[in-house]
Amino acid sequence: MTDALLTAALAARANAFAPFSHFQVGAALEDGEGRIHTGCNVENATYGLTVCAERVAVFKAISEGVRQFRRIAVAADTDALTPPCGACRQILWEFCGDIEILLVNPRGKTETYRLKELFPKPFDVSYL
Ligand code: THU
Repeated sequence: MTDALLTAALAARANAFAPFSHFQVGAALEDGEGRIHTGCNVENATYGLTVCAERVAVFKAISEGVRQFRRIAVAADTDALTPPCGACRQILWEFCGDIEILLVNPRGKTETYRLKELFPKPFDVSYL
């Protein structure tokens, strides 16, 4: 596994704050200039305020002024690779468009999708 984006997502997973679910997720978002922005899930005692790894990565990048994205990698320790949740699919669509999505686990299994495959009829600003 030589793709730095996959390695970064797996490394980011180690920072997951997941004392409630014990389900650790890492994300690594590649921007238009090839820079990598990482995220991990951050849970909360009220549960509902938990933020997924993917959204942490997107919001970190947006907060630094980045607006162009190429790919995102998502790492979790599951044999059936973990895809982004519905809320993250919406956020990814709005900020990243039809981005490439790489899923990976610590044993090096990977799968690649386009967001449109996972989220075929998104709502966005074009409807407003
Ligand atoms: N989670 C993510 O961070 N990303 C996903 O793609 C799936 C779910 C987190 C949210 C929560 O902290 C834990 O995994 C269990 O749902």
